[in-house]
Amino acid sequence: MAKVRHESAWYPLEPGETVLDGLLRQGVHVPHACRAGACQSCLMRATSGAVPEAAQVGLKDTLKARGYFLACACRPQAGTALEVAGASELRVPARIVDLESLSGDVVAVRLEVEAPFDYRAGQYVTVVREDGLARSYSLASLPREDRLELHVRLVPGGAMSGWFARDVRPGERVHVQGPAGDCFYVPGQPEAPLLLAGTGTGLAPLYGIVRDALEAGHTGPIHLFHGALEPRGLYLVDALRALAARHPNLHYRPLVLAGGDGDVEEGPLEARILASLPKRPVGWRAFLCGNPEAVLSLRKKLFLTGFSLKDIHADAFLPSTPRAGPVAGAA
Ligand SMILES: Cc1cc2nc3c(=O)[nH]c(=O)nc-3n(C[C@H](O)[C@H](O)[C@H](O)COP(=O)(O)OP(=O)(O)OC[C@H]3O[C@@H](n4cnc5c(N)ncnc54)[C@H](O)[C@@H]3O)c2cc1C
Ligand code: FES
Repeated sequence: MAKVRHESAWYPLEPGETVLDGLLRQGVHVPHACRAGACQSCLMRATSGAVPEAAQVGLKDTLKARGYFLACACRPQAGTALEVAGASELRVPARIVDLESLSGDVVAVRLEVEAPFDYRAGQYVTVVREDGLARSYSLASLPREDRLELHVRLVPGGAMSGWFARDVRPGERVHVQGPAGDCFYVPGQPEAPLLLAGTGTGLAPLYGIVRDALEAGHTGPIHLFHGALEPRGLYLVDALRALAARHPNLHYRPLVLAGGDGDVEEGPLEARILASLPKRPVGWRAFLCGNPEAVLSLRKKLFLTGFSLKDIHADAFLPSTPRAGPVAGAA
């Protein structure tokens, strides 16, 4: 049996159980959301004992070296005694300063962080509420801007998005953890064609990336596809059209599954994207964000079309997952 020490108490883990599930089962609060290693809200630090390699996949080397790991991906081997601490030292206090409705169900949340916070446009952060509720959101802002900007879609029954949409007033305080993710523009190949594709609030990181690339002097074609079920699911349409008018290399294509008209194309996002690509997309780079199924499917198709995997940067917006049931095979 493995065991975990947290705040001076030891907690036994059932065979095959993750550190996250074991601690939650025994009443220890650990911030968490996706339970799939994608959102980093369950980051913890091993102060003594080794964590399996799988628990550090996707973390920056600096975090790995300091013993950070993802509690939802950490299944210590039998006999392991692991001492852990939370990730509060990675969080900075922040104040919500502004909320703006961008569409029927998307709100822009702007925050001022109260400590230095370095990030790249397109990365994501974890917002941690005072009661410990944690959810990850991509950054739509640019590092040179004073405020962090998030685009939050209201999920029916959603704990964090509902709070943002209904309850939060400017002045509310939260903590911000991160940044994380490799969905950002890297200068150096200004002529490379870029493909940016997102569904829903998957536009948030792309809005940062596209402006970052243009400000960095990117001259190659930038194809930005934003997909929604229907026209009211699109947002920032005028701002993006204005940006494209100022930058002829930016090709902005809003697309809906139903209800399109002369202004907005109608059709399946993935098929339109694939049809727009050359036969051999040599030197292209892709950024894919939003709905997990759409992101994973497009990533696979782009690879099959000839994209190199290292040139496809993807952030799938995995939802929170309720706590797992009893561990199979456990006594
Ligand atoms: C890397 C990353 C980046 C993200 N970036 C953004 C972003 O920029 N903007 C944004 O709006 N969201 C983003 N998300 C999703 C976000 O973290 C939350 O999952 C989302 O806001 C819902 O949280 P909630 O607390 O409101 O709902 P919860 O209380 O977590 O969920 C309520 C119920 O709805 C289900 N649910 C939640 N989301 C969905 C969904 N999309 N589809 C179907 N069922 C769902 C849950 O499983 C649960 O049963 C991102 C997620 C990840 C992992
Ligand atoms: S990465 Fe562990 S809960 Fe999301």
